Amino acid sequence: MSEFVRQLGEYVWVKPQNTTSEFAVPFGARIVRTEKTQTLVCDDLNKQFWVPAGDVLKAMHITSQEDVEDMITLGDLQEYTILRNLQNRYAKQLIYTYTGSMLVAINPYQILPIYTNREIQLYRKKTLTELPPHIFAISDNAFQRLQRLKENQCVVISGESGAGKTESTKLILQYLAAISGKHSWIEQQIIEANPIMEAFGNAKTVRNDNSSRFGKYIEIRFTPEGAIQGARIQQYLLEKSRIVFQSREERNYHIFYCMLAGLSAPERERLKLQEQSPSQYHYLAQGGCFTLPGKGDAKDFADIRAAMKVLSFKPEEVWSILSLLAAILHLGNLRFTATEVANLEAAEIDDTPNLQRVAQLLGLPVPPLNAALTQRTIFVHGEHVTTSLSKEAALEGRDAFVKSLYDGIFVRIVRRINETINKQIDQPMNSIGVLDIFGFENFDNNSFEQLCINYANENLQQFFVGHIFKMEQDEYQNEHINWQHIEFQDNQQILDLIGMKPMNLMSLIDEESKFPKGTDQTLLEKLHVQHGNRSIYVKGKTTQTSLFGIRHYAGVVMYNPMGFLEKNRDSFSSDLRTLVQRSANKYLVDIFPHEMPMDTAKKQPTLCVKFRNSLDMLMRTLSQAHPYFIRCIKPNEYKEPKNFDKELCVRQLRYSGMMETARIRRAGYPIRHAYRAFVERYRLLVPPVGPLEKCDCRTVARQICEVALPADSDRQYGKTKLFLRDDDDGSLELQRSQLMLKSIVTIQRGIRRVLFRRYLKRYREAIITVQRYWRGRLQRRKYQIMRQGFHRLGACIAAQQLTTKFTMVRCRTIKLQALSRGYLVRKDFQEKLVEKRKQQQMKKEELLKLAKLKEAEELLRLQQLKEQKLKEQKDLEDKRLKEEQRLKAEAAARNALAMAAVQQPRREKSFKQQAPLPPTQQARMSLPPPPTTIVAVAPLATRPASATSRINAIPESPGGTIDVESSKQMVDDVFRFLNDEPDVSGPLGPNVKEKSLMFEQALRLRKDVPTKLLSRPVNYYEAAPRKIVNQTRL
Ligand SMILES: Nc1ncnc2c1ncn2[C@@H]1O[C@H](COP(=O)(O)OP(=O)(O)O)[C@@H](O)[C@H]1O
Ligand SMILES: [Mg+2]
Repeated sequence: MSEFVRQLGEYVWVKPQNTTSEFAVPFGARIVRTEKTQTLVCDDLNKQFWVPAGDVLKAMHITSQEDVEDMITLGDLQEYTILRNLQNRYAKQLIYTYTGSMLVAINPYQILPIYTNREIQLYRKKTLTELPPHIFAISDNAFQRLQRLKENQCVVISGESGAGKTESTKLILQYLAAISGKHSWIEQQIIEANPIMEAFGNAKTVRNDNSSRFGKYIEIRFTPEGAIQGARIQQYLLEKSRIVFQSREERNYHIFYCMLAGLSAPERERLKLQEQSPSQYHYLAQGGCFTLPGKGDAKDFADIRAAMKVLSFKPEEVWSILSLLAAILHLGNLRFTATEVANLEAAEIDDTPNLQRVAQLLGLPVPPLNAALTQRTIFVHGEHVTTSLSKEAALEGRDAFVKSLYDGIFVRIVRRINETINKQIDQPMNSIGVLDIFGFENFDNNSFEQLCINYANENLQQFFVGHIFKMEQDEYQNEHINWQHIEFQDNQQILDLIGMKPMNLMSLIDEESKFPKGTDQTLLEKLHVQHGNRSIYVKGKTTQTSLFGIRHYAGVVMYNPMGFLEKNRDSFSSDLRTLVQRSANKYLVDIFPHEMPMDTAKKQPTLCVKFRNSLDMLMRTLSQAHPYFIRCIKPNEYKEPKNFDKELCVRQLRYSGMMETARIRRAGYPIRHAYRAFVERYRLLVPPVGPLEKCDCRTVARQICEVALPADSDRQYGKTKLFLRDDDDGSLELQRSQLMLKSIVTIQRGIRRVLFRRYLKRYREAIITVQRYWRGRLQRRKYQIMRQGFHRLGACIAAQQLTTKFTMVRCRTIKLQALSRGYLVRKDFQEKLVEKRKQQQMKKEELLKLAKLKEAEELLRLQQLKEQKLKEQKDLEDKRLKEEQRLKAEAAARNALAMAAVQQPRREKSFKQQAPLPPTQQARMSLPPPPTTIVAVAPLATRPASATSRINAIPESPGGTIDVESSKQMVDDVFRFLNDEPDVSGPLGPNVKEKSLMFEQALRLRKDVPTKLLSRPVNYYEAAPRKIVNQTRL
C-alpha cells in the first residue's frame, strides 16, 4: 500500500476484514474518501465502511471493474478476481461464466427460464463467444466439434454434492437429444435411463435432496450424420455404507421408499412387505427422514417402472430386483441374539419369520442361510473349519452381505441399461462423454472413499491442468510468443504417491488387505515408514497420531485409516458367497459371479484395484477426447437462491482446481493487455499520442513500455496483446498512479481556486448587502432624529415669535389702558371740582336770592323765572361742552398710545410703577365724557405690519383726534387680536410633507432595498407639524 496511490472513485482490492479464515480473500471496492490512516470504501453490495489505509492492496485491473463473460480475459487472474466476477454475475442471475472453454455454473436453486426450446434453437450452431455463456453453448460446441473434426468430445462436470452436476448432466443430455433431431427410441431410452440410475444411486443427504452417491460417465455415440446411435454408462464407487446406515435427516437410496409407496398391496404381500411405512424397516429408519418435500415416491415408482419398460427390463427381471430389495429390508430387520457355543461367543437368529422371508426372497433354503449368517468356514491346512460368529460379527457379516448385494444390484442394473442402449456396430463412431463425478472432498473424518474420490480428482486435475497448459501454449503460439522457457509443475507427484509409483499408498493398502495379520494400525505404520519423509505426505500431529495426510492440489487432507482394509477388501462372508451361487433366484446368481473360489479371497480384486482400473480406463477415454470442463459451484449451504457465500465459493474454487489456470498463467506472463486498452490506460506516461483510432496502438504500447519499464524487463509483444510479468504491471500501475496524483492535485488546485473565488465573491456581495441595509437603517434613524429636531426648532421659533408679539401687544395695551384710565380719572376729578364750585356758587347765589326774596317777592318771582331760563340755557351749553370734552379725551388717549409705541422702553418703568385701576375706576370709564378735551394722536404708520393687518383701521377725525367710540373700537380690536390663534399656515408645512413623501417614494423605487425595510411603516409625521408663523427650511 505504501507505494500505491489511492484516488477517489478508483476500484481497488481490499484485504478481508475481521476474519482469519483461510478462505477469506481480498474483496473489490471503490474508494469513497481517503484519510491519512484510513480509507472509506464502498463494496459491491453498496455498503460503505472504513478500512485501515494499509488494507487497500492495489488498484483493480480495468478488466475486473465490470463483470466479464470469459474470465480468461481478466487481466489480473486471481482467486479474488474470479470470485468477484462470479458474485457480480450471480447477483444478475447470470449463473454461467467461461474460463476459456471451461464453464463455471453456479447453482441458482431456482428454476430459471433459460432452458426452453427457444434457448436450444438460439445456441444451435453458434460459437462459444457469440452468445452469453450457457451450458447449451458447451454442449453445442462439443457437438459441432464432433461433427467437424470427427473426434471424441468429453464434458467433465465436477463440484461438491448439491452443486448441480447431475442437473447439468441432464441438461447436456437433453440438449444433445434435442439437436440430434431424430426423436428416436434410443434417445428416449437414454433419457429414461436417468430416473432408474437416480432411483438406485441417489439419496437424500443433508446437502442435497437428490444426491448422486456414485460417479458416472455417460458416453453418447453419434452417427456421422449427427444422430444419436447409442450410449454407454460407466459408474464409479457407489456409496455402500448408506444401505446399512444413514445419518440424521438423511435417507437410504430412493428406490426403497418408492417401492414401499408405489407397490400395490398384493405385490407387497408377495414381497412379504406387510408394513408400508419405511419407519418399520431398520435400514430405512435410522435417519428419521422418510419423505421429501415436493417429491412423490409412489409417482416416482411408477416412473421408474415405466422407464424400466422403455429400457426393455423384463417383468421377471424387475420382480427379481424388487425381491432382492425386499430381502435387503427383511435382512435389516433380522434379529440376532448373542449366545455361547462351547464357551465361545456365538450368535443366533431368533426371528424365524423374517429369516424365512429373506430365504424365500433370495431363493435360498432357510438352514444354510441361517448358518451362513451366524457362522464362518475357514480353510485351514487344507480343511474347512466352521466357527461361530459373535453377535457383532454376525451383524457386520450381514451388513457386508447387504452392501455387496445392493452394489451388485446397482452394477447389474447399469449393465442391463448398457445392454439396451449400447448397441455395438462395426462402424467406428464418435462420442460425447459426460462425466458427473464427485468433486474434491475434505471432511472432518476422511476415510477410504475420500481417498479414492480425491485420487480421481487428482487425475482429473492433471487432465485439466494439461488441457489448460496446452491452451496457454496455444495462446502463446497464436500470439507468436516464445513460450519454450515457461515451466509448470503439475500434480504428478501426488498421483505417484497415491496410485502410480511402486509402493504407492493404494498398493500398500492392497498389500495390507491381503495380509492376514494386517490391521489399519499396521497399515498406518507402513505408510509412515514408506512415505514419511516426502514433502507431500503429512504425518498426523500429536493430536492426530492415528491419521496420515496428503498435500493435495486443493490443500492438505487428513485421512483416518480406520476401516480402510475392510472397505478395500470389499467382500462378505465366503459362506454366503458360496450359498448365493446355489440360489433359485437367477438374478442373484448373476450378480455374484460363481467362478470365484472361496479360498482365494485374497486374490479377489480389491476395491483399490477395481477403482484404479476403472479410473485408468476413464482417463484413457478422456485423454482421447477433446475436453470441456464444467465446474459446478454451490453458492450456499441452505439451498437458497440469491445467497452467495463468498468463503464457501472460494473453497470450491480452490477445490475445483480453477486456480491452476492462474498458476499456469503466472508461470508465464500473467498480465495481458489488448494493445488498445493498454494504450488507453497508460498513454499518459508518454507525450500525447492523439486519438486511438488514428494511431498504431502496438507501436504506442511499445513506446510506453520503453519509457516506463526497465530495458531488461521480461515482456512480450504478441499479435494482439502485450504480455507482462506481475512486477512490470505493478510498476506501470504505480507510475500511472503517481502521474495521476500529480495531475489530480493540479486540477484540484485550479478547481479549488475557482470555487474559493466564487465563494469569496458571494461572501463579499453578501457583506455589501448587509452593509447597505445597515447604513440605510442608520441614515433613516438619523433622518428621523433630525426631522424631529427641526420640528422642535420650528415650534420653538414659532413660540418665540408669538411670545414676543404677544408681549409687545400686551405692553402696549397696558400702556394704553394706563393712559386712558389716567385721563378718565383726571377728567372725573376736574368735573367733580367744577361741580363742587358750581354748587358753592349756587348756594351763595341762593342765599342772596333768599334775602332779595324777602325784599321783593314779585321781583324774586320774576328773577326766579329769569334764572330758570338761564339755567336751561346753561344745561344745553354743558351738554355740548361735555361732548367736546369726551372727544378731546379720546384724541388724547390715541395720542398717548402712539407716543407709548414710540417711547415704550423709556416709559416702561413709569408704567410699571403705576398701579392698575380698581374695577370701580374702570366702570367709570363708561360715564358721560368730561368737558371737551382735545387729545393729540401720533400717526398710525408707526404700528407694525402684522398688527395692522389684524387690528381694524381706526377712523381718524379730521383734526388727527380720535373720538371715544373709535377708541373703544380700537381697544376691542386689540383684544380680539390677542384672543386669536396665531396663523401658522405658511408654505413650509405642505412643503415638508411633500418632501418626506418624495423621499419615501424614492426609497421604494430602489429595488435593492429589502422589502422588509420598506414594509416597515415609516412614520415621518410622528410629531404633528406645529403652526409656525415664519417659513422654516429643513
Ligand atoms: N441449473 C439449475 N437450475 C435450477 N436448479 C438447479 C440447477 N442445478 C441444480 N439445481 C438444484 O440443485 C439441486 C442439486 O443439484 P444436483 O445436480 O443434484 O447436485 P449434484 O449432482 O452436484 O449433487 C437440484 O435438485 C436442483 O434443485
Ligand atoms: Mg448428483
